[in-house]
Amino acid sequence: MQSGLKDIESQIGEYKIGNKDELESFRLKFISRNGLVTKLFDDLKSASKEDKPLLGRQLNEIKKLAEEKFNSHKLRIEESELRREESDLTLPGRNFSPGSEHILIQTLNEFVRIFREIGFKVTDGPELEEEFYNFDALNTPEHHPARDMQDTFYVQHKADKKKKYVLRTHTSPVQIRTMLANKPPIRIICPGKVFRNETVTYKNYFMFHQVEGLYVDKNVSMRDLKGVLSHFVKKFYGENTKSRFIPTFFPFTEPSAQLDISCILCKGKGCKTCKNTGWLEVGGSGMVDPNVFKAVGYDPEVYSGYAFGLGIERIAMLKYGIKDIRTFYINDVRFLEQF
Ligand code: PHE
Repeated sequence: MQSGLKDIESQIGEYKIGNKDELESFRLKFISRNGLVTKLFDDLKSASKEDKPLLGRQLNEIKKLAEEKFNSHKLRIEESELRREESDLTLPGRNFSPGSEHILIQTLNEFVRIFREIGFKVTDGPELEEEFYNFDALNTPEHHPARDMQDTFYVQHKADKKKKYVLRTHTSPVQIRTMLANKPPIRIICPGKVFRNETVTYKNYFMFHQVEGLYVDKNVSMRDLKGVLSHFVKKFYGENTKSRFIPTFFPFTEPSAQLDISCILCKGKGCKTCKNTGWLEVGGSGMVDPNVFKAVGYDPEVYSGYAFGLGIERIAMLKYGIKDIRTFYINDVRFLEQF
């Protein structure tokens, strides 16, 4: 038995354990119920009385040796597996897709940045608007033909039946809210959503975005308006882009002017997009109508001001070659991730 012990001891010492399978073979061979070490304990029973204590002690040492070897390799293998799971540098990287700002918001922020640089403050107003702010106070009383210019969504307010509500058809009601809450000088812009009951096509949608501008002070003139908008056009579309102002009509400005820019696609030569005119319409503007000042309690003899409203969608479509306005709103990642 003595020689058997020595033999097994050296077998244990030499046994190579490199991985999980080898660890399991080691266990089966030596320390499992049918393993060699367990068998030796059976043999011990038949040993002589004198030999038993020594053999017993030796056998216990061998058992300890086998168990310690098993445990230390087990720990090592488990740890290295864990480490491999945590950071196997050979594995392909996990896909990381950061979100990005929507192209409309990017365009809007660019607008805002340019106006802030020249002293305009950014304000906000409700999208569910009282008819008073959207129309009446803007010199557009009921039955005024100009109400038909914008197809309005009327809304029934459950709690507030006395006032009439609309989804604002333009950002101009923010002019009224701002003037009622502040004293001149006022110099604000207001970016936001507006709603019109239009048939949805590739170029019209029932909702879109505008940036409203308002400047009120003493001695504000049409020249100031033209200066600021021409500055904006150059900053946004490039130094060589020209502006022109065409007489038009809005109930809340007098005189009123449509803002055109030289076509950014053909540089004014004439193309399909500008219908060969060389010009593109980008917004409306004008001098604040005296009736609007009266509605907010400003003296039109003392104060004057200008206002403008620019559409965002059309501008972004032209700048980025987007053919269908609906692509802005359907959240197709293939579209969104291009910007
Ligand atoms: N509110 C007008 C529109 O939506 C644009 C505008 C704003 C015109 C301010 C003049 C002054 O068409």
